[in-house]
Amino acid sequence: MLTLIVILIVSYLIGSIPTSIIAGKLLKGIDIRDYGSGNAGGTNAFRVLGWKTGLTVTILDIVKGAIAAISVVVFFEAHPLGPLPDINPIALRLIAGLCAVFGHVFTIFAGFKGGKGVSTAAGMMFAIAPVTTLIVLGIFLLVIFFSRYVSVASMLAAVAFPLIIAVRKYLFDLGGGLDYYIKMFNTRVFIHDSLDYHLLIFGLIVAFAIIYTHRTNIRRLISGNENRVTFHGRS
Ligand code: G3P
Repeated sequence: MLTLIVILIVSYLIGSIPTSIIAGKLLKGIDIRDYGSGNAGGTNAFRVLGWKTGLTVTILDIVKGAIAAISVVVFFEAHPLGPLPDINPIALRLIAGLCAVFGHVFTIFAGFKGGKGVSTAAGMMFAIAPVTTLIVLGIFLLVIFFSRYVSVASMLAAVAFPLIIAVRKYLFDLGGGLDYYIKMFNTRVFIHDSLDYHLLIFGLIVAFAIIYTHRTNIRRLISGNENRVTFHGRS
């Protein structure tokens, strides 16, 4: 039980690292939450701190989710502090990833006011189900290109993930998906991008969570005040 508690706490703390807030303080001496959309996330870092910082923050936030879901779990599976409870290994990774997303949204390092969890959730899902996540990334980019609303793309991507899992598993019964091993901490780590019902359940939890964290965006969309991204050559 101690091992599980430590996995959850370490994952939460990793997710809590407020990358965009640190970047804002270091680069401009500002709290990013006082500018742009007020969100402590990659999109607002793009807006307020420029594309290079925005991209760096987004990548770091993705990495936080992936580290929690894979590295933290694998490390403590290899070096347990006591017997691990009998939890499905995919569920354990998803729970750790979800703790990182929770940390990103309610960061202990910045007054529990963090970001919306999209990049960290993407990292968590990519580490567990890379193929499905890449399909979702394609949808995310297409929606941004056509709508120019990152918030709409984020919410649709979050809903698309469990839908794709469900369609692949229950409609087309596509079988085993993609399973392979990577090596980490001298351990062979099983990557199981197959159609596991844990992915469906946690995908649904993440989708609801992300719609919840976007409630101010939904209000702005309804009132016609939501921020849009601009592309070179398109107003
Ligand atoms: O990932 C967050 C994005 O979906 C919306 O960010 O800053 O426009 O509220 P923002």
